[in-house]
Amino acid sequence: MTKTIGIIGGGQLGMMIAQAAAQMGVGCICLDPSEDAPAASVCKRHIVAAFDDMAALDELCRASDVVTYEFENVPAEILRTLDDKYHIKQGIAPLCDSQDRLREKTRAVESGLECPRFADITDIDSLRLNAEAFGYPCVLKTRRLGYDGHGQKVIRSRDDIADAAAMLSVPCILEEFVRYDYETSVIMVGDQQCGYIHFPIGRNIHTGGILDLSVVPAPGMDDDMRRRLAEGSEAFMRHNGYRGIMAIEYFVCGGRFLFNEMAPRPHNSGHYTIEGCSTSQYRELCRYLLGLPLEEPQLKAPAVMKNILGQDLDSAVGIAAERHPDTFVHLYGKSESRPKRKMGHITFVDCDIERYDAQWRDKFVKQ
Ligand SMILES: Nc1ncnc2c1ncn2[C@@H]1O[C@H](COP(=O)(O)OP(=O)(O)O)[C@@H](O)[C@H]1O
Ligand SMILES: [Mg+2]
Repeated sequence: MTKTIGIIGGGQLGMMIAQAAAQMGVGCICLDPSEDAPAASVCKRHIVAAFDDMAALDELCRASDVVTYEFENVPAEILRTLDDKYHIKQGIAPLCDSQDRLREKTRAVESGLECPRFADITDIDSLRLNAEAFGYPCVLKTRRLGYDGHGQKVIRSRDDIADAAAMLSVPCILEEFVRYDYETSVIMVGDQQCGYIHFPIGRNIHTGGILDLSVVPAPGMDDDMRRRLAEGSEAFMRHNGYRGIMAIEYFVCGGRFLFNEMAPRPHNSGHYTIEGCSTSQYRELCRYLLGLPLEEPQLKAPAVMKNILGQDLDSAVGIAAERHPDTFVHLYGKSESRPKRKMGHITFVDCDIERYDAQWRDKFVKQ
């Protein structure tokens, strides 16, 4: 019997989940408030509804054999009701935990991972007190709903506190500012019964709080760091009983790695797995959802993934129109292009950072 995967969210991650499912002969239904959600073009059905529309979410679940999510901010009470009634294979715990920076960091510490110093901030006094303790700069973030650097502010000195306090109309968390060597992420799929697979680990380069490049394998990362990142991340999943797909972002500082945040869905830094690995994060998520055995991914060749934001869309369209072997341009089909909006990505396979710098960097707007 042909199965149907329901996807809460219809962005580019949903689109790539649905593309992987389609290759396996499996159809998807997405729910997303936007009429022209990227996933809609590859799903057999698109329910246009808000993420707090209980009746619409119920409809999505009823029409699906198994349900996953690519959007993180579905209200927790709605998730609980759905989880009681339907087959949300990954459960809702990783999603609920990832919605709150204080909770995810607390879970990380309890699981044996190191975090940047952090504190719950409820008022200007606790902000002042903790900022003095952490030193400057430090970073104030909303506990909920932050993404791509939105909902956070770097506090550079005591003089910034009054301005930053404007954020305190919602619960916040303060973090020490980490002078990391580089950022990385670990993407895993699995559960306690079937075990976990791990994708090759890259280095992530952010500009203005948004991922710009992922370079795989991570330049300068030794085997010992790779092993400890994989083991620590898997221990985090096991300790919390998380199932399905999980991406964890870390800061690497010398021999240490500090947990930054988690996402229980495919991750931007894992786009490269589509052409760069023997199996992708999207395909393995589908295999997990369908109860098929997971495949340990192998890196086919070094790869660089470039995020295409609105300002680089014309360049990406140009590259797509030319002949470049091992260069895979993905465009998400969003009707409105804006600077800083994710419009697509390009994976350069058989490419390292030196080659990217020499051949490709100049084609894009300098960030
Ligand atoms: N405590 C910190 N110290 C230094 N840089 C940080 C810190 N927190 C975040 N950043 C930078 O901002 C980026 C976005 O922050 P993050 O917490 O991952 O939020 P989101 O990705 O949800 O916007 C990070 O990838 C990193 O480059
Ligand atoms: Mg992040």
